[in-house]
Amino acid sequence: MIQNDLLLRTLRGEQTERPPVWMMRQAGRYLPEYMVLREKYGFFERCQTPELACEITLQPIDIVGVDAAILFSDILVVPQAMGLEVQLVESKGPLLPDPVKTAADMNRIRVPEISETLGYVMDAIRLIKKELNGRVPLIGFAGAPWTILCYMVQGKGSKTFDEAKAFCYTQPELAHQLLQMITDTTIAYLSAQIEAGADTVQLFDSWGGLLGPADFEILSLQYMRQIVTAVKDKAPTILFAKGAWHSLEEMAATGAHGLGIDWCIQPQRARQFAGSNVTLQGNFDPAKLLGPIPVIKKEVTAMLDAFGPGRHIANLGHGILPNVPVAHAKAFVDTVKEYRYKG
Ligand code: CP3
Repeated sequence: MIQNDLLLRTLRGEQTERPPVWMMRQAGRYLPEYMVLREKYGFFERCQTPELACEITLQPIDIVGVDAAILFSDILVVPQAMGLEVQLVESKGPLLPDPVKTAADMNRIRVPEISETLGYVMDAIRLIKKELNGRVPLIGFAGAPWTILCYMVQGKGSKTFDEAKAFCYTQPELAHQLLQMITDTTIAYLSAQIEAGADTVQLFDSWGGLLGPADFEILSLQYMRQIVTAVKDKAPTILFAKGAWHSLEEMAATGAHGLGIDWCIQPQRARQFAGSNVTLQGNFDPAKLLGPIPVIKKEVTAMLDAFGPGRHIANLGHGILPNVPVAHAKAFVDTVKEYRYKG
């Protein structure tokens, strides 16, 4: 039994007294307690050691008081499991030294057996569930196929992911073969996370907004739709496609329980596009947490008013920035926790 199940009730569409709150990337570098472990262990070592992943997952619950835990891991463990080397280079971000560029490169890629390659994630989930002891729900996650393809082909972060797009536009058959392999892997992976104890799952399509609406359907949404269809009856499913607000109506039609939005769309407009049968999540500009606390409190309240009563999960519109003071993150969370729906 989960004591604080605000998040799950909100995803199911039940009326609650206030919105639940969590923050994307809530386990991370703005927390001094995270930095201590970061000094001692490499990034993937932290992901692959269940005790470390568990400790890091619980930090924002204990320190900031959010209403949900999100598994400490990374979306790039999936390309690793599929056969690619992935490094995380200090202050540079992800690096895949041998990305996918040709048909021959596809021979190195496989749909892996999840228990053999990502079993450590499920071990971490079981440990986290035990340590959480029902305090708050646990969110599992994976990258959306399009965003994973971006890294598998580009080989590193990018503002435009031009090489990934060139791959899709010049070798569409290969691109779709790869997207389908990622999709099949992700369905098995999220199902295993749920089986191990994840209470809800989120798909991160961080680079969905790089595609126009037609390409978003072809390269991203048709694969996310397959994933939602396969997992939504096992656990509530949240889709977060950053910058892809043009397709909120189509994303709602997948049957996802929640849709994440960034700060570039008004809550009321997002609601019009998404319809009334889905929970919206977001959408505070993460950079606003760098402003003074009284301004944060005022703006968070304005955001909650704008979303209106119910079917809203308070969150940032993207990950928390590493230079946000912990007190400011707490002000964000506390403002939501003090808020009450009127009537
Ligand atoms: O949200 C959480 O607290 C759970 C853990 C989590 C991480 N990454 C840990 C992490 C989650 C959900 C992710 C998702 C992720 N990873 C995304 C999608 C969300 C988004 O932000 O768009 C993407 C695109 C990645 C890929 C990735 N991982 C990048 C681009 C980077 C480097 C840039 C950065 O923000 O540091 C990472 C590293 C990473 N993943 C860190 C953390 C805490 C920082 C590692 C460190 O330096 O200690």
